[in-house]
Amino acid sequence: MESIKKITILTGAGISAESGISTFRDQNGLWENHEIEDVATPEGFARNPELVYKFYNQRRFQLTQDNIVPNPAHEALVKLEKEFDGSVLIITQNVDDLHERAGQESLIHMHGELLKMRCVATNKIYKSPSFFDQDTACPCCQEVGNLRPHIVWFGEMPFYMDKIQNALLDSDLFLSIGTSAQVYPASIFYRWAEQGGAKTIELNLESTAASERFNENYQGRASELVPEFVDKLLRGDISPEVS
Ligand code: OAD
Repeated sequence: MESIKKITILTGAGISAESGISTFRDQNGLWENHEIEDVATPEGFARNPELVYKFYNQRRFQLTQDNIVPNPAHEALVKLEKEFDGSVLIITQNVDDLHERAGQESLIHMHGELLKMRCVATNKIYKSPSFFDQDTACPCCQEVGNLRPHIVWFGEMPFYMDKIQNALLDSDLFLSIGTSAQVYPASIFYRWAEQGGAKTIELNLESTAASERFNENYQGRASELVPEFVDKLLRGDISPEVS
């Protein structure tokens, strides 16, 4: 391979941790304090919608507080998109809007967006108000009870999978940033990238179940590791060769 021209990047909760948003599986993470089955499955929503609306209303409230802002890792990926002589696509598992607030343009939200809601009757997607629940009338059908958070729950198919798979198969470099690599299908993206001939690199606070599968892995805080790595990439200091 001559040089790196197409970069695909998967991000997870670890990239937003230093912005003040809880991760899922770290100590005191969201899944330590909430049951996945209750707040992140279609069955949980059917059983107790009030609890599910409350969970996402709280998370939306947290996300929109003034102290929650993009950190140097989000900013470095914007710099990469602007200055790299090639293409950069970010696929995020995060439902926050910190990548776009930092200015990222080429971005896929595979697990949905906290600031959006969807009508279950028409599948139309809307910008959500700061609070909505089972009593909120839907903008399209005017019915109450038809709006749900625009979030992919366990057992549901993530969004844009065809586009994601094509991008991974067509990449020269795949980066995985701030994810524990425990949730399918994001957990196997490195394999699709590998199939397409890409070099694979993981950047995370600690080693993960998948670290050994990557060609290279580096540990540290995203706010330091990502800007350093982006500068190396922009200088041409990252070899496309798989060592
Ligand atoms: P996890 O909470 O599973 O993993 C976060 C990873 O980030 C961990 O490996 C941490 O070590 C790492 N981390 C924490 N702080 C960091 C920092 N400052 N710098 C770098 N890394 C740091 O979150 P995800 O892997 O994103 O899905 O979780 C994947 C999916 O599981 C989420 O999108 C969500 C969840 O269930 C849905 O809700 C559909």
